[in-house]
Amino acid sequence: MDRTKSHHDGSQMERLTRGFSAETLELITSLSEEALQQKLARMITPPITLNERTDSELLELYYTSSYVHLFETFNIPKKAKLFEIAAGDTIFIPKALNAYADEGAKYITANLNKSLTSGFREKASELSIELEIIEDNGINILSYCGEGKVDVAVFHHAMNDIVQTIIAEREGNDTVNVDWWTAEPQMLQTVMAYHNRGELKTAAYSEFISIIETCMKLLKEDGYFIFDNCTYAGYEDMGYNSDFHSNYIQLAREWIHEADLGLQEVELEGFDPKWWMVLQKT
Ligand SMILES: C[S@@+](CC[C@H](N)C(=O)[O-])C[C@H]1O[C@@H](n2cnc3c(N)ncnc32)[C@H](O)[C@@H]1O
Repeated sequence: MDRTKSHHDGSQMERLTRGFSAETLELITSLSEEALQQKLARMITPPITLNERTDSELLELYYTSSYVHLFETFNIPKKAKLFEIAAGDTIFIPKALNAYADEGAKYITANLNKSLTSGFREKASELSIELEIIEDNGINILSYCGEGKVDVAVFHHAMNDIVQTIIAEREGNDTVNVDWWTAEPQMLQTVMAYHNRGELKTAAYSEFISIIETCMKLLKEDGYFIFDNCTYAGYEDMGYNSDFHSNYIQLAREWIHEADLGLQEVELEGFDPKWWMVLQKT
């Protein structure tokens, strides 16, 4: 699979690497296509470990080029409308759409945490694509966007955030007006406690499935769901179990299968099903 066909497509690669350090740009240029592919693929050897700026930028390039590759593979319209839930302050997905799409494409996100949304706005201001940033729970997205209008619904490293938020809200803890990273250890430990007591599914399944059903209504008939969820290093120290985290895609797969929503999984060459899942309406 050629994740970075764009390596030689100057304008697309230029958009994906905009803002990267001179060191990372030099490294990318010095590598052959094959060596770059291998280096990017190794970035998601779990747990993802980011020691230097170059690591973070290569990880970003892994994700953005993977998404561009998926848009190409699924022939997503160049004027696509894409919805991402729970982007936080990460702009990988709008950056990928910005590199792939033409004028007329639109990126929409629903994001609850206020300070992360403000970071997102600042970072995304460099993009030329049309953006709509909704400060609300993704479960309410149909109050903002009409049904059947969206080509792709993206859950980029979001299943964990959605579950964390459901559990925190259930416990009466604010996730909107807090510093996310300060609140996160407590959120993770609470999720683990629910999991260890065997109560996670009872607590989170129904709201998670409602989000999926809402996104199904949002999507066009031939639209796609794209999920990814690889595990970062450093969370064990907060009392969070990496094996549990590494099972998030499988958990989403099982819950969606059990809910029998009429979604089928699309097989993907070169994308590990442990970290990736693409679904389409049947
Ligand atoms: C750490 S950020 C996630 C960043 C991104 N998914 C990533 O991993 O790069 C977590 C964000 O998800 C948001 N979030 C969690 N559940 C949500 C939901 N149901 N609707 C909208 N935002 C949600 C939180 O409010 C927070 O802004």
